[in-house]
Amino acid sequence: MNDPATAMAKAPARRSSRLLILVAALVLGVAAGVGLALVMTGRFADPPATKVAVGGPFELIDHDGRPFSDRMLRGKPFLIYFGFTHCPDICPAALFEISEILNALGPDASRTTALFVSVDPERDTPAVMKDYLSNFNPNMRGLTGDPATIAAVAKDYRAYYKKIPLEGGDYTMDHSTIVYLMDKQGQFVASFDIKRAPEAAAAKLRQYF
Ligand code: NI
Repeated sequence: MNDPATAMAKAPARRSSRLLILVAALVLGVAAGVGLALVMTGRFADPPATKVAVGGPFELIDHDGRPFSDRMLRGKPFLIYFGFTHCPDICPAALFEISEILNALGPDASRTTALFVSVDPERDTPAVMKDYLSNFNPNMRGLTGDPATIAAVAKDYRAYYKKIPLEGGDYTMDHSTIVYLMDKQGQFVASFDIKRAPEAAAAKLRQYF
């Protein structure tokens, strides 16, 4: 159809759709630019973790059988991990990696602490935890307590755990495996990557001393 009247009618429609594409491209370009600027200024470099309430006060028992509270950690950044000594693989691997990071800090390891909070207080008595942790860096501390207290601390840290019955009346624990980095004031910084080289993780930890 080359009817001139139809062609005339179509022309403005084509122009406006071309304009729409141009505007869309412009909007996308601006959005990409803003996004890039946010990333470059670090606004998106770390998750907005500080706005999430993670952690809080606690009163537990350490692996020497002594009361241990979060207040004893003021002035020290610390790592905190929830697990259990009967864990077949995840916990030993995580604790080994955390231990290696503390080893990489050398004498400065005493300027931080890595807490291993048991989600299996029925079996993880202070003595059991002390024995278990004797394999790792001495700046790691095992914490246990009565089940209700452990549940409250895990809830504050948004840590998940669940008892899984096994055949023969035995059981294991399913649990989250996040390592939390807390600052000198006991405020949550971010989840801490223990999979990187121990030296790199140690350098990151030093930034919070
Ligand atoms: Ni585990």
